[in-house]
Amino acid sequence: MTKAIRINEHGGPEVLRWESIEVGDPDEGQVRLRQTACGLNYIDVYGRTGLYPVGELPATLGMEAVGVVDAIAEGAGSLKVGDRVAYPMQLGAYAEARLIDAKYLLKIPDSINDQTAAAMMLKGLTAHYLLHRTYPVQSGDTILVYAAAGGVGLILCQWARQLGVSVIGCVGSDVKADLAKANGCEHTILYRKEDIATRVRDITEGAGVAAVYDSIGKATFESSLDSLRPFGVLATFGNASGPVEPFSPSILAPKGSLYVTRPTLATHTSTRELLEQGANKLFEVVISGAVKIHVNQSFSLAECADAHRSLEARNTTGSTVLEI
Ligand SMILES: NC(=O)c1ccc[n+]([C@@H]2O[C@H](COP(=O)([O-])OP(=O)(O)OC[C@H]3O[C@@H](n4cnc5c(N)ncnc54)[C@H](OP(=O)(O)O)[C@@H]3O)[C@@H](O)[C@H]2O)c1
Repeated sequence: MTKAIRINEHGGPEVLRWESIEVGDPDEGQVRLRQTACGLNYIDVYGRTGLYPVGELPATLGMEAVGVVDAIAEGAGSLKVGDRVAYPMQLGAYAEARLIDAKYLLKIPDSINDQTAAAMMLKGLTAHYLLHRTYPVQSGDTILVYAAAGGVGLILCQWARQLGVSVIGCVGSDVKADLAKANGCEHTILYRKEDIATRVRDITEGAGVAAVYDSIGKATFESSLDSLRPFGVLATFGNASGPVEPFSPSILAPKGSLYVTRPTLATHTSTRELLEQGANKLFEVVISGAVKIHVNQSFSLAECADAHRSLEARNTTGSTVLEI
């Protein structure tokens, strides 16, 4: 019998249940995957609490995993039984096995092991689109990154530095500051005690930053706007502290004709071309060693509730993997 982490109701980590599921055979265009590891992502918390929709309950949570193809239907392209593949942003990942459309799957290069693949796809593709599409950084830019020692954060900061960008990272503790500095941050701000915009103005000699990549949401929205240079871009891409409250666009004028965008990886992986373009760039920087993937916590998938508790308590750094 196949097991999965499902929810029958929204709520705290206690609603995550290790239950038996039926997987069945793939339909046209699908494969069946025997999964080996899932990535833990903050979006899993939003699905669990009900902030983001997960369809009908009971629902299997989880958005990314890696595994081996063990059955293929007609129309599933060039994949073969035994291929090692991974996917980001497809609900239903917290399971020992699943059916999935082949068009969402990416073959993993041999030099990237399963644990690393599970730790890097969703977070790394997010870092890619933020740095290359949302606000395409230029060498010499200074940017502000929140949760700089987190899963997306550590990848984003290393990648930005590789592109010649100076990164100011907001972090929740001294230990996280050291980690962020070892992974691409030139400066860090302890944003639980220091005023963010004041520190940014000090560091940039009054200029402000070209872009802010804000995954915290509600608690940091105003500080993010106040940290930007004229014509600067705020990419508010997460809600760790809750969703940003409604605001009037007119506040952006006196702060310097600012831009605000609310991007999602769902759009940035919505075509095969977008997905492959991001994945190829991500594989390149990981294989070259320019971006190191830090798996700093791992749990068994059955212990997923403990992983959620740790993530929400701000106790994790880098990526967390759920082993199967
Ligand atoms: N829009 C997209 O396409 C997209 C895709 C992927 C991820 N995201 C977003 O990116 C963010 C990072 O995701 P991740 O999976 O890599 O998680 P993560 O950064 O590893 O973990 C979240 C971090 O947020 C910080 N934080 C600040 N306030 C918090 C609060 N009130 N509660 C909990 N954490 C708080 C903590 O770091 P400090 O202690 O250093 O503050 C915490 O470690 C999330 O907001 C996620 O939703 C968005």
